[in-house]
Amino acid sequence: MRTDREHADAQDAMDELRAWHDRFVLPHDVTGRELVYLCGHSLGAQPVLAAEYVEEVMRDWRSLAVDGHFEATHPWTTYHERFAPALARLVGASPNEVVAMNSLTANLHLMLVSFYRPTGSRTALLIEKHAFPSDRYAAESQVRCHGLDPARDLIEISPRDGEDLLRTEDVLALLDREGHRIATIVLPGVQYLTGQVLDLRSITAAGRDAGCRVGWNLAHSIGNVEVDLHAAGADFAVWCHYKYLNGGPGAVGGAFVHERHARDATLPRFAGWWGHDKATRFLMGPNFEPIPGAEGWQLSNPPMLAMAPLAASLEHFDAVGLPALRRKSVALTGYMEGLIRCRLDGRVRIVTPAQPAARGAALSLRLVASRDRARSAFDGLRRRGIVADWREPDIVRAAPVPFYNRFIDVWRFVDALCAEIDDMGR
Ligand SMILES: Cc1ncc(COP(=O)(O)O)c(C=O)c1O
Repeated sequence: MRTDREHADAQDAMDELRAWHDRFVLPHDVTGRELVYLCGHSLGAQPVLAAEYVEEVMRDWRSLAVDGHFEATHPWTTYHERFAPALARLVGASPNEVVAMNSLTANLHLMLVSFYRPTGSRTALLIEKHAFPSDRYAAESQVRCHGLDPARDLIEISPRDGEDLLRTEDVLALLDREGHRIATIVLPGVQYLTGQVLDLRSITAAGRDAGCRVGWNLAHSIGNVEVDLHAAGADFAVWCHYKYLNGGPGAVGGAFVHERHARDATLPRFAGWWGHDKATRFLMGPNFEPIPGAEGWQLSNPPMLAMAPLAASLEHFDAVGLPALRRKSVALTGYMEGLIRCRLDGRVRIVTPAQPAARGAALSLRLVASRDRARSAFDGLRRRGIVADWREPDIVRAAPVPFYNRFIDVWRFVDALCAEIDDMGR
């Protein structure tokens, strides 16, 4: 493989999506030089169009005040509805199965209230051992809320000793063994620390065969890899919009509820007026009648200023389409992997799976050095204009995002990593 800088430039010149880079605002250093931003797996870059859409809400608020709810350019009472078709395409659902609302952890709780109903001997909640802390806190607190003991009823599946990645066969074997006592499964579509894509289809099928409810956390999947929630038969899913969806810091989250639950009046849920039937919501009656579908889980009238940037980003996703983005993503990440293997073999270990289908944009790396030296090499990257991230205890994550990253960004990252690791050895 060619490792020279000119090759990176040549690939950028051939990239059909290269013009999209300029539709995003990338951070700069104090000298005005654009940083190599490889942190879209944490906080996506700002679409240029986002400021216009936020200003549209500000303007309507100034000129219309309360009338903006019905008369704004995009009326606020129905603002979130315009997201549903695009979100549905991203997660493989129909529009009435998805909704943008609340935040990820809040949505996980709302979903678990409805879909984690321990009964009889089926009382356990299955998550992964290395779940994102918020997911674990949510799961454990849900188990406790039912008066159960997490030591028994929170099952955490982990990779085998000495391995970093979960094996599908191990998840399936656990479901075979323990499925009869598992009420609900919540697993990540893409694992946040390793970047591993889990086999959503087989795990969902096995979970449902075992009589469990199956939910997915798509925080690191949506806008990154193709997902087909409806066809897989998942019961529910949750995600955030601030990573690959570029919705801005603390952007509203999202949720999916499979349509077989859309009209199930027996499902318990925590209700709020925004989930109430739209035709009668403003009659202000005392009895809750849920909107059929995912919208029925909404609680409050949505935060318009936090929704507006997402409108911009989803327009971009619709314009390009996930398949084209994914094609470039596979090429970018493959290029990063190839450069690391050629230039840093034996000094950096790639934790993320090697098969493109088993990973998204991000690679998780372990620098083969003591933790302190690895940490200081990571800090050095920042001084060289690279924005990646560090996840305890010893992982560097870097995600080239197809919308705004270029092959030259990947080249600069690996070149800077080589320089830091060379310095570490001196
Ligand atoms: C996998 C995962 N779960 C949960 C969260 C928490 O999200 P929020 O703060 O939006 O609830 C994050 C945030 O990065 C995440 O990556």
